[in-house]
Amino acid sequence: MAHSVSGHLKLRVAEYDDLIRQLVPAYPVMRPVQLDLVALGLPPAGAGALVLDLGGGTGALAAAIAERFPAATVEIWDTDPDMLATARERCTRFGDRVRYVERSFTDPLPRCDAVAACIALHHVKDLKVKAGIYKNIFAALKPGGMFVNADTAVCATLALRDHAFKLWADSMRPHGINEAQAHAHFASWAHEDYYPPLITELRMLAEAGFAEPECFWREAAAVVFGAMK
Ligand SMILES: C[S@@+](CC[C@H](N)C(=O)[O-])C[C@H]1O[C@@H](n2cnc3c(N)ncnc32)[C@H](O)[C@@H]1O
Repeated sequence: MAHSVSGHLKLRVAEYDDLIRQLVPAYPVMRPVQLDLVALGLPPAGAGALVLDLGGGTGALAAAIAERFPAATVEIWDTDPDMLATARERCTRFGDRVRYVERSFTDPLPRCDAVAACIALHHVKDLKVKAGIYKNIFAALKPGGMFVNADTAVCATLALRDHAFKLWADSMRPHGINEAQAHAHFASWAHEDYYPPLITELRMLAEAGFAEPECFWREAAAVVFGAMK
């Protein structure tokens, strides 16, 4: 029997949610940390606020933001129309409080109260491009607005780098991924991902104009960092 389009998309949401938790076991732990920080940039319940979700993918973070701040609007920026279609399916219940923007997060951003991203900005391998994104975020945020990125950061020092990947691989084992499989994943992701050292990220945020970039949480390679404008 053929799947309906919406049934197929629902399946993709469930598959994605399972897979991401196997590959990035810190993923669900970072979410409440990130939401509590986004809250600092918003009025109560997010009244009248706009929050951007950069590289929002299947809309998991956007849905969590829309749920937590019932009077806020969330814009998901993503270049992949399939991802946006899946996000639309996940976020239907929020009506026009969630918007879907098929555009690169390297473009200038609209005036907003908070910018969030979750395991998306590591797709930017060129640090000059990433520095430009951080400048755009600083320019878009209202004073007091928050930028919060939940992602991966790995030291360049070889021993520390290996240690971070070992801890990441260890965290995958309870999810059925052995060490060799974990390292095969890291090797294949290295073609399109780059996890700059945290100090590099914080320096780029400072250069973009943020007075006090901060690491709010970290565990092995996973990290939640950002700043208030
Ligand atoms: C791993 S997924 C995102 C996961 C999602 N944020 C979450 O929390 O589950 C990374 C997303 O970044 C998007 N992406 C990659 N490069 C992009 C760009 N330049 N502009 C906008 N989105 C981009 C991809 O299409 C993909 O949907």
